[in-house]
Amino acid sequence: MEKYNKRMGDFRITENAAIAENYSLLKLIPVEGLLSDSAIRPGQFVQVVTPNNATYLRRPISICYIDNDANEMWLLIRKAGDGTRALCDQPNGATINMIYSLGNGFDLSEAGSSPLLIGGGVGVAPLLNLGAELNRQGIKPTFLLGARSAKDVLLAEEFAKYGDVHVSTEDGSAGEKGLVTTNTILNSEFTHIYCCGPMPMMKAIAKIAREKSTPCEVSLENVMACGVGACLCCVEKTTAGNVCVCKEGPVFNIDQLLW
Ligand SMILES: Cc1cc2nc3c(=O)[nH]c(=O)nc-3n(C[C@H](O)[C@H](O)[C@H](O)COP(=O)(O)OP(=O)(O)OC[C@H]3O[C@@H](n4cnc5c(N)ncnc54)[C@H](O)[C@@H]3O)c2cc1C
Ligand code: FES
Repeated sequence: MEKYNKRMGDFRITENAAIAENYSLLKLIPVEGLLSDSAIRPGQFVQVVTPNNATYLRRPISICYIDNDANEMWLLIRKAGDGTRALCDQPNGATINMIYSLGNGFDLSEAGSSPLLIGGGVGVAPLLNLGAELNRQGIKPTFLLGARSAKDVLLAEEFAKYGDVHVSTEDGSAGEKGLVTTNTILNSEFTHIYCCGPMPMMKAIAKIAREKSTPCEVSLENVMACGVGACLCCVEKTTAGNVCVCKEGPVFNIDQLLW
């Protein structure tokens, strides 16, 4: 049986909001069809054509949130280079082409009653849809968001709709001063940890999860080209050998990883 349900289609930008310096939140609706028909799961991603041929290859972006009532998909984008900058610069009403929804997504059946969702920087993106879905299943998650400073804390008000929000900033201008790995909320007990962010952060969280014997999943952001398992450029070494993060991930239980 097909593990996931891939489609290609044009999406129209209904709103492009610059929510922080170098970050845009794009709200998009499919030109044709209903997102609810696509069985999109938290943790999956899209491959986006960058406007005006800014880049030769599509760019992978996490699905931040799905609003089925509005038939709307949200993408949270950090300006990293030419492709993401071109996406952030698109006006309302512009159309972009996407392949969706790719990858495996988070395992919600493992959440338990009190999961902790940890995001660093733009890595918070897939955790909004995850938090919303957990909430729909009657689970109130705890969020831990990491950023450089207060102005870079992303979507905190949106996260607060679904659970308690804790923040770490490197300069101490919001929440606790320091990295997410030193936030005191980590002294509490959680049934499961879901994490997405820079690789050193995820490795440090994986170490803490192992020490506390808390099951943990991480969403990897290896550089990708095709996004569908054909080019092998996103390979990660796992306990099952080399696997394509785009197809077998991007979410892995840390027990699968050789970290
Ligand atoms: C599964 C997945 C989900 C992602 N979700 C998001 C998201 O929700 N929002 C978002 O803004 N970005 C996300 N990214 C990262 C995003 O794909 C890259 O920032 C983007 O491809 C860079 O393209 P560019 O043309 O703007 O920059 P480029 O000119 O291609 O690169 C600019 C800089 O970014 C670095 N870079 C390129 N790809 C990555 C990557 N995968 N991870 C980290 N650094 C990279 C390059 O090494 C270079 O230093 C995701 C990546 C993956 C694999
Ligand atoms: S990006 Fe081509 S195989 Fe993963």
